[in-house]
Amino acid sequence: MPIHTSPDRIAAPARPSSSPRVAIVTGGSRGIGRRTVGRLAADGYAVAVGYAADRDEAEAAVKEAVTAGGRAIAVRADVADEHAVAALFDAAEAEFGGVDVVVHAAGRAHMAPIAELDLAVLDDLHRTNIRGTFVVVQQAARRVRPGGAIVTFSTSVVGLAFPDYGAYSASKGAVEALTLILARELRGRDVTANAVAPGPTATDGFLDGKDEETLTRLAARPPLERLGTPADIAEVVAFLASPAGHWINGQVVRANGGII
Ligand SMILES: NC(=O)c1ccc[n+]([C@@H]2O[C@H](COP(=O)([O-])OP(=O)(O)OC[C@H]3O[C@@H](n4cnc5c(N)ncnc54)[C@H](OP(=O)(O)O)[C@@H]3O)[C@@H](O)[C@H]2O)c1
Repeated sequence: MPIHTSPDRIAAPARPSSSPRVAIVTGGSRGIGRRTVGRLAADGYAVAVGYAADRDEAEAAVKEAVTAGGRAIAVRADVADEHAVAALFDAAEAEFGGVDVVVHAAGRAHMAPIAELDLAVLDDLHRTNIRGTFVVVQQAARRVRPGGAIVTFSTSVVGLAFPDYGAYSASKGAVEALTLILARELRGRDVTANAVAPGPTATDGFLDGKDEETLTRLAARPPLERLGTPADIAEVVAFLASPAGHWINGQVVRANGGII
C-alpha cells in the first residue's frame, strides 16, 4: 500500500515572499492577541487586528506591527456579530489579498461560584466566547487558504477545574469541542485547527480585580514558578501558524508552565 507524503508542501512557502502570509487576529488590541499581532508581524505577516471597542489600543497594535516589519489594519468587529465578522474578513481580503491564518484570541472571563452567578452574565459570556468562536471559525473555515492555520483560545482551567470558573470554563470547553471537530471537517483543505489553552497569563484582562495574594498563589503553581506572559503564548501561536507547526492539527495545546 503506498504511503502518501507531500514533502514539497511541507517545505514550500504558500506563495512568493513578495506576497506575505495574511493573518486575522481577533482580540488583537490587548493582551495575548496584541502580543501575537506583533509576533506575526515580525515574521512578515500582514495582519488585520480585530477589536471590540478600544480603537486607540487597536491603532497602537497596528503601529507596533508596522514597527516590527509587517503591514496591518485595525477593524472593529464584535466577534458574536456575524455581519461584523464577515466584514472583518472582507477587509483583510481586500487589503491583503486573502487570509492564511486566523487567531481567535478575543474572549471574556467572569468568575463567580455556580450557585451565585447571574444568568444574564452567563448568557453574555457565552455569547462572546461560544457564539463568537463559532462565528469566527465559520468564516475561517470558508476562507482560509491552503497551507493555513486556525488557532482558537481555550484555558487550562478546563482541566484544572478551579472553583469560581464554572461559566468561563464551560464556554472554553465548548471552544475545545468546536475546534477539534473543525479540524476534522477541514479534511482535504490543508488547513489546521488547534486550540491554545493558556494557564494564568499576566494580561490586563487577567490581572484586573485580583489581589496580590491571589496573584502570588497562582504564580507559585507551575513548576516554572511564575505567571505566563503574553509573549510566552504568542510564541506558541506563531509556531502553530507557521509551516513548521503544520503537522500539529486537531489538538489542545496547554501552554501553562506545567501547572497542576
Ligand atoms: N490571560 C489569561 O490568563 C488567559 C488564560 C487562559 C485563557 N485566556 C484566553 O486567552 C484569550 C486572550 O486573553 P487576554 O487575557 O489577552 O484578554 P484581554 O487582555 O482581556 O483582551 C481581550 C481582547 O478581546 C477583545 N474582545 C473582548 N470581547 C470582544 C468581542 N465581543 N468582540 C471582539 N473582541 C472582543 C478585546 O477588545 P477591546 O480591547 O476592544 O475591548 C481585547 O482585545 C481569551 O480568549 C482568554 O479567554 C487568557
